[in-house]
Amino acid sequence: MGAPLCLIGLDLGTSACKALAIDGNGELVAQASASYPLATPQPGWAEQSPADWRDGADRAMRALTAALPTGAEVAAIGLSGQMHGLVALDDADTVIRPAILWCDNRTGPQCDALTARMGGMEAMVALTRNRMLPGFTGGKFLWLQEHEPRTLERMRRFLLPKDMLRLDMTGEHATDVSDASGTGLFDVAARRWSQPMVEAVGLSADQLPPALESHEVTGRLRPALAERWGLRPGVPVVAGGGDSVIQTVSMGVMGPGMVGITLGTAGLIGASTAECPDNPGGLLQVSCSNAPNRWHVMGVSLNGGGAFHWWRDAMRTLSGGGPDFHTMVALAAEVPPGADNLLFLPMLLGERCPHVAPDGRGAWIGLTHAHDIRHMTRAVMEGVALNLRSILALVAGAGAGAEASAGVDCRSLRASGGATASRAWLQLLADVTGQPVGTPTGAAEGGAFGAALLAGVGAGHWSSLEDAVSVIRLREVVTPSPQAMKIYDRLHPIHAGLYEAVRASTERLAELPL
Ligand code: XUL
Repeated sequence: MGAPLCLIGLDLGTSACKALAIDGNGELVAQASASYPLATPQPGWAEQSPADWRDGADRAMRALTAALPTGAEVAAIGLSGQMHGLVALDDADTVIRPAILWCDNRTGPQCDALTARMGGMEAMVALTRNRMLPGFTGGKFLWLQEHEPRTLERMRRFLLPKDMLRLDMTGEHATDVSDASGTGLFDVAARRWSQPMVEAVGLSADQLPPALESHEVTGRLRPALAERWGLRPGVPVVAGGGDSVIQTVSMGVMGPGMVGITLGTAGLIGASTAECPDNPGGLLQVSCSNAPNRWHVMGVSLNGGGAFHWWRDAMRTLSGGGPDFHTMVALAAEVPPGADNLLFLPMLLGERCPHVAPDGRGAWIGLTHAHDIRHMTRAVMEGVALNLRSILALVAGAGAGAEASAGVDCRSLRASGGATASRAWLQLLADVTGQPVGTPTGAAEGGAFGAALLAGVGAGHWSSLEDAVSVIRLREVVTPSPQAMKIYDRLHPIHAGLYEAVRASTERLAELPL
């Protein structure tokens, strides 16, 4: 028997770098992760040091390779990573300033000004299929122009976060089409940089990394790193993808009728399409898929499982430290679906989808003496799920309101992400969407799993990404309860109107000094 084939996926997350290895059947062989800090130098800002990423990737890769079975033959490495971040490099490829991340909201005014300059939101969507969201990379260049012109003068090239790891690993400057799509500077339909957008943010073509298809080999592992990580020199490193896109692939969501929910800190509804979808109103994010000739459409809420975390942390201030997650889920289960008509608007971090509202604020609506902490806890969970239902309507809406939807066919939902380890959350997603929800194998590992599948395509082990995802099986399918569905059908339209109902008040609150 030959040496066992291994494929490595490396995911550069916001809190940690995760490395995993799978075998040729998509079974997990080993995994490791290493965390690093996030800096918020001012409210609404989010930055990280690329040196911390390099160190995290090194720790994760060394722990991973130490855990590989003897004789394992690593055929290729794939990369996945947090999207939209800006890494600025000088002409010696030295990082000039900390990376500005996807969750940094400082560029609202620059995005508005750029949109006006390009002829309005629809004109921008026509060029890139996306509006310039404040988290996207494009607005960050304009912010630098206004606030740090010296940085831009010194900047020879820019890279997206995971592509910084690629530069360290292979010496090559490159990105992939899915991550490039999240810059707001990419013509997603044509799968190439958008010249008018690149010029509008003051860049020239030679400052951009070439954008390859996700399975393509972008370079080979440098001998020094290969030796440090105990791998053979020259292991191919494939392009990979942006984590949110690749996460949907990791669930096997590729074919018609399939839609994926990722419920981690954020909440995401995504699907893969054969044509590049329109994006009416620019509420969704459209990107190239990790399979050539396919596209990806998603709606990203900044307030997914993170809203539940916030409520747990808020209760930590109680004597005794407050309930843990398990106790909170049990508390929520003590009250009926609908939390006796208490609703929660989970806009704790502002919002990206279903409303673009960087200054949005959260709220409980409908409180009476009949409600206690159990209802409030249940309402937080339900508020996150009802919000995802609104996003699902944008991705896959039909009938009334369909003109604002990407019109994706949705016959089967798959879910992944930290929160979906909990049966109660899965049941809630099924009840609120009214659809059976399947949990796929491998998906719990997130973007790193999809990156390893892409490594397998790049190494020729699978003929295509469609072929690779055929290894994914469903662990279980949770079906909705007809009684609960009825309640959520009644509550959803009220929940969907909450943002507009409280908007004037929350905008005034956001303007007040703290
Ligand atoms: C996607 C997005 C996040 C980041 C961080 O548009 O903003 O999912 O990629 O994970």
